[in-house]
Amino acid sequence: MKKKKISFSGKGGVGKSTLSIFFLKYLINNYPDFEILVIDADPDSNIADLLGMEVPFKDTVGGITTELKHQMANRSLPPGMSKNQMLEAEIYDSLIEEDNFDLLIMGRSEGEGCYCYINSILKTILDDISKNYSITILDMPAGLEHFARKTDKDVDDLVIVTDPSKMGFHTMNRIIEISDELTLEFKNIWVIGNRFSDELKSLLEGEVKNFLKKNVKLLGFIPEDEEISDFNFIGTSILELPENNNAYLEFSSIISQILK
Ligand SMILES: Nc1ncnc2c1ncn2[C@@H]1O[C@H](COP(=O)(O)OP(=O)(O)OP(=O)(O)O)[C@@H](O)[C@H]1O
Ligand SMILES: [Mg+2]
Repeated sequence: MKKKKISFSGKGGVGKSTLSIFFLKYLINNYPDFEILVIDADPDSNIADLLGMEVPFKDTVGGITTELKHQMANRSLPPGMSKNQMLEAEIYDSLIEEDNFDLLIMGRSEGEGCYCYINSILKTILDDISKNYSITILDMPAGLEHFARKTDKDVDDLVIVTDPSKMGFHTMNRIIEISDELTLEFKNIWVIGNRFSDELKSLLEGEVKNFLKKNVKLLGFIPEDEEISDFNFIGTSILELPENNNAYLEFSSIISQILK
């Protein structure tokens, strides 16, 4: 299969991170040969929490760039290395290597002033890193801001998650409109309805039909699932959910379309 970048977006709290990890779990189970990179692109990152891991700020890309900004401001960069090389080396260093996947946490970059320079090389470096993987999963921040910044420009497939709420639908619609306006060219835009009961499914089905011409497809639905909340609350990794978990089974049955 060709290398792929798949990004999960949607309104706050709809299940982007949970379903990103479901996808990771699915890939680990079904594609053991894949090299997988997970990028937690949400400044209020919580992928690590959902995976039951603790990652100190200094090991996030935000932590690294904050330190670099600091050194730039104090003119205390080590000699003989360009900023670009330094940033790249540090980011490669910050990759968290798990048994079946690597994890990169963006975190929040702190410090005053415009460091557009750092941000632009950051994007190039991330593109570069993901070339080393068969598949890159991006868990994006809630809302629309990152689309305006074209952070998703080089993503192949966009997955929009919505729950059965007006605001969830609204954000989904705006994402589709914005990606059109900004000519972000996704190969596919998929919609997943999370926490839907059978009665509410037709609402989303009707909504997505409006976007058929824009290559938006409804991937399917994930039910409300108590075990997910329990794992979340206790802090057990979502990767450890039993294979016969109802929501995960549903997810497995719909997600294979993405990999075709
Ligand atoms: N199908 C589900 N059944 C039960 N609980 C769920 C389900 N999907 C998600 N949740 C719970 O909803 C909460 C929000 O999920 P999650 O963190 O994945 O959303 P998010 O979109 O990534 O949020 P944020 O915008 O804050 O990043 C979590 O507590 C999660 O356990
Ligand atoms: Mg999240």
